[in-house]
Amino acid sequence: MAARVREPSVTRRPDDVPAIELVDVHKSFGNFDVLRGITFSVPRGKTFVIMGGSGTGKSVTLKHIIGIVQPDSGDVLVDGESVPRMDRKGLMHLRKRMGYLFQDGALINWMTIFDNVALPLRENTRMSKSEIEDRTMEVCELVDLAHSIQKFPANISGGMKKRAGLARTLVTEPEVVLYDEPNAGLDPVMSDKINQLILEVQERFQVTSVVVTHKRACAYTTGDMIALIKDGVIVEQGTRDYMRASDHPLVRAFLGGID
Ligand SMILES: Nc1ncnc2c1ncn2[C@@H]1O[C@H](COP(=O)(O)OP(=O)(O)OP(=O)(O)O)[C@@H](O)[C@H]1O
Ligand SMILES: [Mg+2]
Repeated sequence: MAARVREPSVTRRPDDVPAIELVDVHKSFGNFDVLRGITFSVPRGKTFVIMGGSGTGKSVTLKHIIGIVQPDSGDVLVDGESVPRMDRKGLMHLRKRMGYLFQDGALINWMTIFDNVALPLRENTRMSKSEIEDRTMEVCELVDLAHSIQKFPANISGGMKKRAGLARTLVTEPEVVLYDEPNAGLDPVMSDKINQLILEVQERFQVTSVVVTHKRACAYTTGDMIALIKDGVIVEQGTRDYMRASDHPLVRAFLGGID
């Protein structure tokens, strides 16, 4: 992306209000208690990494932040505003400021990669056709998809779909980005490239991010804070260095060893 400096948003709060805050969030589906009191906060411009076993509620946690899933109790705050209490208009405004990389990419099958990536600009901005083309190409190049823009999702690999989803997430230069397993299914070189990209996006645009990942390298490269979820609660959370030194068995299982 070009080194465009983002104008401060008019809704921006003083620095002491966390960009994202979950306060004792509980969520059940039927009689399955998925989240049993999740609490964390992400300061503006920082990256919070969530790790944990499959089915522990990582994606469900992300969905609370964008208001797709509502908590049974507790609160979810973005810039100090309660997401569950937002009306439709508030939620729409919130979602325009956020990028969400869905775990499965969530591409539209009947649109080319180019059209998939350009979609948020066409729907949510008043940019001209040529501006949209330029920006879309820029992000497609960033994720190494410039040669595949006319292909359809059915005709590209899983890794390419992931990168297309990432391009679509970043194309509007959101203030907050939620990444659900950004490098699952990617080869090590591409995986590393995506980690660097997440870092670059954060440093260049002061984006606040939550990253769900199973990959140590992704956690250590991108995370200012790292948390581990098990049985619906965060069993350990802290800075990279704190987690590196932790002797909690689950932390060691996820974050120990050599990459
Ligand atoms: N809308 C829903 N309705 C019912 N159950 C759901 C719903 N969404 C999630 N669940 C259940 O909640 C649990 C947590 O799901 P979630 O997708 O958050 O797991 P995850 O930690 O992201 O796992 P993975 O690492 O496999 O992606 C799962 O058992 C899932 O089946
Ligand atoms: Mg998930």
